[in-house]
Amino acid sequence: MTFEVMSMENPMLFVRNVTLPDGRRGHDVLARDGRIEAIGPQLPLPEGATLLDGQGWLLSPPFVDAHFHMDATLSHGLPRVNQSGTLLEGIALWGELKPLLTQDALVERALQYCDWAVAKGLLAVRSHVDVCDDRLLAVDALLHVKQQVKPYLDLQLVAFPQDGVLRSPTALGNLKRALDRGVDVVGGIPHFERTMADGAESVRLLCELAAERGLHVDMHCDESDDPLSRHIETLAFHTQRLGLHGRVTGSHLTSMHSMDNYYVSKLLPLVAEAQVHAVANPLINITLQGRHDSYPKRRGMTRVPELMAAGVNVGFGHDCVMDPWYSSGSADMLEVAQMGLHVAQMTSQAQMRACFDAVTVNSAKILGLDGYGLAVGARADFVLLQARDPVEAIRLRAARLAVVRGGQVVARTPAATATLSLPGRSASVDWTLQR
Ligand code: FE2
Repeated sequence: MTFEVMSMENPMLFVRNVTLPDGRRGHDVLARDGRIEAIGPQLPLPEGATLLDGQGWLLSPPFVDAHFHMDATLSHGLPRVNQSGTLLEGIALWGELKPLLTQDALVERALQYCDWAVAKGLLAVRSHVDVCDDRLLAVDALLHVKQQVKPYLDLQLVAFPQDGVLRSPTALGNLKRALDRGVDVVGGIPHFERTMADGAESVRLLCELAAERGLHVDMHCDESDDPLSRHIETLAFHTQRLGLHGRVTGSHLTSMHSMDNYYVSKLLPLVAEAQVHAVANPLINITLQGRHDSYPKRRGMTRVPELMAAGVNVGFGHDCVMDPWYSSGSADMLEVAQMGLHVAQMTSQAQMRACFDAVTVNSAKILGLDGYGLAVGARADFVLLQARDPVEAIRLRAARLAVVRGGQVVARTPAATATLSLPGRSASVDWTLQR
């Protein structure tokens, strides 16, 4: 994605005394004209620069959501609430809501969500947009939103044939029209096609379409508990055949949770060789999968630590916030990381940090963000968190003290503290470990 510098209030921002995600302490960051110009200990404060005192807190690159549905977000209660909380009632509800959607309402909800996102330091989102409405109402609405939020949030859109690109008679034509209008990425949903053969055929034709147009691919792939749902294998195969290495993402991959271990030992190297990215959606996978189980109930999330160990780039997505499928969420990618850490039992120090990477650098790689990261020459986008390191940030879902985009502070949140009035003494706590 290309980077557009915001109109400058002050072209220079000096962030004093922060801790970096790799543990370096007492560093300063100088941003000029939307880019990071210097990072180091005790840098000279240039005259005229805006000063942001980091007070030793963690400075992170912004959060990135690798998988979201902005056309459905914040529609909770429209036209009614999902009473059972199940996937099937959610799909039925979305079907009831679709004919009632208006472009204005879609735009309004998406813009409200982008405000929530920016306030949480979430500055890049890959959103699927349903193309199975012949009016392409949501496509046009989100293309409009994409332009409107560009100064403060990178919104990447995936043409998503929710009802199946082969199963729905107009889906393929609609998908191509959506790409023609400026949607960035080719989507798909092979496990929802009528047969396994149709699913495999949909993967082939969608990968070829992406190859022809020079686009990326991101498919809802194997979002089921069926261990024989193996479209990820087909996706990796066509990725290699068409030379799409690094440009293809398999989202969800929940069937992998239930697959035979021998088969997975053969599958993971194939995915790694094809450089297919994987996206898990911990909040949604843990709530929607395993619904046909009695006890024990499967967790349903894909094999995140095993994928990472095999060399696959894994990002986490929020997937849903306050929509027909999920009535919770607040654009907080630290909540997503925390759930991923728990569901995958990723509790070693290295694994907890890997969960932080899954909502920052790994997802940035999936979106192909240009100039992302805390490095000289990178875009001056970052978040000051009320935590001393990434693991503490996940534990506390740390307050976003300041969010910076293009060298400008675009959001602030007060520090989380409580004052106590106890018998004989008063005190304050902020839940960080005092050493
Ligand atoms: Fe999704």
